[in-house]
Amino acid sequence: MSILQYFEEKQGGTLPKEYREMTTSQMEERIREIKQILGDKLFIPGHHYQKDEVIQFADATGDSLQLAQLCAANEKAEHIVFCGVHFMAETADILTNDEQRVYLPDMRAGCSMADMADIYQTDRAWDALTEMFGETIVPLTYVNSTAAIKAFVGRNGGATVTSSNAHAMVKWAFTQRERILFLPDQHLGRNTAYDIGIPLEQMAVWDPIQDKLEYEGALEDVKVILWKGHCSVHENFTVKNVIDVRNEHPDMRIIVHPECSREVVELSDDNGSTKYIIETIENAAPGSEWAIGTEMNLVNRLIQSHPDKKIISLNPSMCPCLTMNRIDLPHLLWSLECIVDNEYVNQIKVDQQTAEEAISALDRMLARA
Ligand code: 13P
Ligand code: SF4
Repeated sequence: MSILQYFEEKQGGTLPKEYREMTTSQMEERIREIKQILGDKLFIPGHHYQKDEVIQFADATGDSLQLAQLCAANEKAEHIVFCGVHFMAETADILTNDEQRVYLPDMRAGCSMADMADIYQTDRAWDALTEMFGETIVPLTYVNSTAAIKAFVGRNGGATVTSSNAHAMVKWAFTQRERILFLPDQHLGRNTAYDIGIPLEQMAVWDPIQDKLEYEGALEDVKVILWKGHCSVHENFTVKNVIDVRNEHPDMRIIVHPECSREVVELSDDNGSTKYIIETIENAAPGSEWAIGTEMNLVNRLIQSHPDKKIISLNPSMCPCLTMNRIDLPHLLWSLECIVDNEYVNQIKVDQQTAEEAISALDRMLARA
C-alpha cells in the first residue's frame, strides 16, 4: 500500500471522482431529494464560517456553543452531518447518544489551532506546572481542541469554554482554584482574563514546543498560564489593519473576534464571539459603517445580508478559513449518499473513556452557558 493510500484509508478516503463531475444544480437537487427522504432522521448543523453553498442546506446555523447545544438537544436524528471542523464533530459525537452517528463530510477539515495542543504536550506541561505551582491550577480548554484535551481537562476538574461564554467560565474557574491554565488559544485566554481584571503582568505563557514557561516575574504572581497557540485566521488581523481603517474610514467602527491578538482587540471599538458580532451588526443603525475582524465567509455573508450598512473586512486581503472551506457541495452530497446507502463513511467516533471524561468538562460549561 502506498503512503497516499494509507493516509486516504486512515482518514476515511477521498471524494469519489463522480462527485467532481456533477454540476452545481445536479448536486443541489440531489441534496434536496436526500433531505426529503431522510426527514427528521438527518440533522445538518452548519457553523457560521461555512461557505454559502453548504450553509443553504443547514438545518441550523450557529457558533460552536449554539451547535453543541443543538446537537445535545437533538435525540431524533440518527445521522448528524456536521458542516464545520473536526473538533466540532467530535463534540457533537460526545454529546449525542450511542444510536446517533456523526459524520464530517471531509476528514481534512481540521483546525490549525486545535492541532497546536496535543495530549502528550499537555501531559508534559501539566507535570511541569504542577511541580511549579502545586495543586493550584484548574485547566480550561477552548472547545477548539481535541477530545483528548477535553478529557484531560475533565479529569482535572476543569471545563471547556467557547468564545461566547469565556468570561463566565474564567470567573467560575477562579472560584475553583487560584490559577488557570488556558488552552489552546493564548489570545482568547489573554483577552478574557484581561477583561475580568487580571493584569497582563500576571499572565505567563506556556511554550509547548520548548516545554518552557515564559514569565519574567516571581512565580507566585502568576494567575493565568496561557498555552502558546493561536488561530491562523484571526492572527492575520494586525495593528496596521486597524490604523489603515482609522485613516481611510474615520467614521467606521471596528469589531473583532477575541481570537485576535491583545493589541488588535485593544485598538478596536468592540470585540466578541461570532454570535455577538452577528447580533451587533443586525442591531446596528442603517447607514452605520463597520470593519469586521473575523472569518471571511461570515464577513461576506454579513455584507450581503445588510446592504443598508457599509461593511468591510478589517484586513482587505483576508482569506476564509481553509479548513472550514474543505466542506463543499461535493463532500456534503457524498456524505449524504453514503448514509442513504448505509455506508458510514467519515464517521467521527470518540472512544468511550475519552468521551466520558470529556463530557464532564463539557457539562460544566453547558450548565453555565
Ligand atoms: P465561535 O464559533 O465560538 O465563535 O468560534 C470561532 C471559531 O474560530 C470556530 O472555529
Ligand atoms: Fe480553527 Fe481558526 Fe479555522 Fe476556527 S477559524 S476552525 S479556530 S483555524
